[in-house]
Amino acid sequence: MNNAFLETIKARRSIYAINSVLPISEDQVTHIITEAVKLSPSAFNSQSSRVVILLGEQHKKLWDITGQQLKKIVPADAFDATKQKLASFAAGAGTILFYEDCQVVKDLQEKFALYADNFPVWSEHSTGIAQFSVWSALAQANIGASLQHYNPLIDDDVKNEWGLPDSWKLRSQMPFGSIVQPAGEKTFMPDEQRFRVFK
Ligand SMILES: Cc1cc2nc3c(=O)[nH]c(=O)nc-3n(C[C@H](O)[C@H](O)[C@H](O)COP(=O)(O)O)c2cc1C
Repeated sequence: MNNAFLETIKARRSIYAINSVLPISEDQVTHIITEAVKLSPSAFNSQSSRVVILLGEQHKKLWDITGQQLKKIVPADAFDATKQKLASFAAGAGTILFYEDCQVVKDLQEKFALYADNFPVWSEHSTGIAQFSVWSALAQANIGASLQHYNPLIDDDVKNEWGLPDSWKLRSQMPFGSIVQPAGEKTFMPDEQRFRVFK
């Protein structure tokens, strides 16, 4: 059975070998990212996801900042490997920072007290959905990306560097670029252990 959506999400992989020569313009990439986030659902249509798109030198600055913070906590003899890893992200064309706006969550908790405990959980679901949408939409455009988590280590520096609101909570970083080397084969656990169909 042919299903275009399944083909698209099959093409999405964690791509670590990337470069900065994009197959489409920066404006087109920005459009794909913003549309993918806008079209992703959120609890009560709260649209709690916030996104910062860093391109070119701005994107490189993020990985400099990350290196400066990691240097403080990574043992000196392990830092070369860390530096190499960060350089592989910086070699891409850009990085997407995924945030959730805690103020939106707080307002919802006050407005709908019955669901107060659920809103932070749903906010996490929403960012996951937004991240997956963007990651898949980029894959469809033949742009490789991976998902990184240097938060909360870099939160304050990033907030200060780009003047972001206090209520925005950083959830992940997605470096992207042209695919230099595709991902290796992926294994899947047996379906019988994951799915139960009753009819
Ligand atoms: C919630 C979540 C968190 C992840 N965190 C990281 C991470 O911090 N660093 C990283 O390199 N990959 C991270 N990944 C990527 C996974 O390791 C990867 O998606 C998984 O091994 C499957 O490979 P694929 O993306 O090529 O399909 C994360 C993925 C998910 C869904």
